[in-house]
Amino acid sequence: MIELSNVSKTYFSNNKGNGSNAIHALKEANLIVPKGTIHGVIGLSGAGKSTLIRCVNLLERPTSGTVTVDGQEMTNLSNAALNRARHRIGMIFQHFNLLTTRSVFDNVALPLELMGQKRHTVRERVIPLLEMVGLADKADQYPAQLSGGQKQRVAIARALASKPQVLLCDEATSALDPQTTSSILELLRDINHQLGITILLITHEMEVVKSICHRVSLISDGELVEDSEVGDFFTAPRTQLGREFLNDFLQLTPPKELIERLVDTPGDNTHPVVRLTFSGDAVSTPLISRLARECGVDVSILQAKVESIQERTLGLMIAELLGTPTQTQQAMTYLESHQLQVEVLGHVQRND
Ligand SMILES: Nc1ncnc2c1ncn2[C@@H]1O[C@H](COP(=O)(O)OP(=O)(O)O)[C@@H](O)[C@H]1O
Ligand SMILES: [Mg+2]
Repeated sequence: MIELSNVSKTYFSNNKGNGSNAIHALKEANLIVPKGTIHGVIGLSGAGKSTLIRCVNLLERPTSGTVTVDGQEMTNLSNAALNRARHRIGMIFQHFNLLTTRSVFDNVALPLELMGQKRHTVRERVIPLLEMVGLADKADQYPAQLSGGQKQRVAIARALASKPQVLLCDEATSALDPQTTSSILELLRDINHQLGITILLITHEMEVVKSICHRVSLISDGELVEDSEVGDFFTAPRTQLGREFLNDFLQLTPPKELIERLVDTPGDNTHPVVRLTFSGDAVSTPLISRLARECGVDVSILQAKVESIQERTLGLMIAELLGTPTQTQQAMTYLESHQLQVEVLGHVQRND
């Protein structure tokens, strides 16, 4: 288990530590990742993701707060004890961080050598790890001879060499193409499943969260602003930023020519354009035809999409509601009372 309790990290860019030029990269972060789960932290560039993950193994020392990994309070350890504790925490990076002058075998062997293990013990550990990541035949090659995906596989084997309980992944697939990304994510999923390793990963990609995480936190400007089951985050994000990530992922934005015609306030001869998000039972209920019957409103569908996220179904639609102001208001109230999220994107002049 990983537990962050009120963890803050402030960088001082002038090295005086007197508060001028202070960057509050992490603000009172609280996070619990239960043993054996995969937890994602998603956020924009500069939001504090790397700072957060580096605070877990104390590559960055928190300015305040406590970090506990598998019952051991990391923030309290002497340097020697911290070094031992780090053997229980593997880490992989966006740019793999392999040693170019060492072979694949020797890269994976490095942590074991640093722990003072004998050559034959090292061999007994490294060979099965290379088999697990599918690189047994590349043991004698050098990083320069490998593809990006293969390099990340070496890094994963190296991270697992000291039999960690926890694996930290800092944008581990961000330098890889989509196909390689999914094969690396599949490997991480297997590692979690077969070895019961707890995984904390940070990413700026919803696809990564969708494909392997159990829970997800959203980080914004150093603050953890949402913490949800992945299904909940994808069906009903609680913050504006969460909704922006979701809309980007689903690529459901109104056509450009419509955006240009949208006005903020309703006028005499306008009707609303809405984005509807619905999940669960609402997906299979014929709400749109009922809307016509019960509220007398016609619905012109501009875009629609249905996504499967874990065991949940998520429906999205952009539509124009055609009717009198009273009718369209009733229609929106009707939709909201049936658990749909209704977001008015603007109002558009009637063509008829
Ligand atoms: N070593 C550092 N010294 C000073 N500022 C830093 C340092 N590392 C990160 N920052 C700043 O902290 C903020 C968060 O950075 P980071 O954790 O790398 O974000 P992310 O990984 O989400 O892109 C940024 O404003 C960044 O410039
Ligand atoms: Mg980063």
